[in-house]
Amino acid sequence: MPELKLDNVSYQYKHGDRKVVNEVTCLFEGGKLNSVVGPSGCGKTTLLSLMAGLDQPTQGQIHIDNESLADLDLDQYRRERVSMIFQAFQLFPLLTALENVCFPMQLNGVSREEIPEKGKSLLSSVGITEEKFKRYPANLSGGEQQRVAIARTLATGAHVLLADEPTGNLDKANGDKLIEILGQLAHEQGYCVIIVTHDPSIAERSDKVWRMSDGALIEQQLASS
Ligand SMILES: Nc1ncnc2c1ncn2[C@@H]1O[C@H](COP(=O)(O)OP(=O)(O)OP(=O)(O)O)[C@@H](O)[C@H]1O
Ligand SMILES: [Mg+2]
Repeated sequence: MPELKLDNVSYQYKHGDRKVVNEVTCLFEGGKLNSVVGPSGCGKTTLLSLMAGLDQPTQGQIHIDNESLADLDLDQYRRERVSMIFQAFQLFPLLTALENVCFPMQLNGVSREEIPEKGKSLLSSVGITEEKFKRYPANLSGGEQQRVAIARTLATGAHVLLADEPTGNLDKANGDKLIEILGQLAHEQGYCVIIVTHDPSIAERSDKVWRMSDGALIEQQLASS
């Protein structure tokens, strides 16, 4: 199963006066739903962007499955091995739901004949029904758009899913559905799922909760364990 390991990772923005991520050492395992909580400005999004390979640590190392990101082609890493889900869903507005999901497969060289069927089955797997496949994002609800975004993420083949406040724009029912889907991906298919959230109910449903504070990250003991 995929895992992300951080070894003494720090990050300071170019014109910043402090380490926004400060000597973080931790292991995010596959098969688990992880959540990262903490006050605004404590460094959560910055930490995700390091794990997504969008920025490189100013100190320390990040490993995916024992390979250091420093040794990998980061474009390829971002295309094939990690996927990011944002609060605003970032679907292409001029592509239909199905076209949005098929797009990464075209980039990643999945054979042309296979793409539409795979796209449909991914949409079905996140509860998007056939009559919505050809709708544009503007004609889908927020919850549906977020699920299409997840299907698109799965189409990349990446097994590490990084989500930044994925339920921030959703009502409770849609937020619950989303977490259920992410939980299934972790528990049934072994994805390594890391969710940044302000929502205590997501933290409660996670296998591991990590608390970030002034750039430091510590695992929180769950009440049930
Ligand atoms: N490009 C940048 N240059 C300098 N400082 C930055 C930059 N981006 C973010 N910061 C600072 O880094 C710190 C951490 O920001 P980050 O976005 O990681 O926080 P966060 O925990 O995700 O907050 P929120 O919960 O509000 O999303 C903040 O103090 C922020 O002002
Ligand atoms: Mg943030």
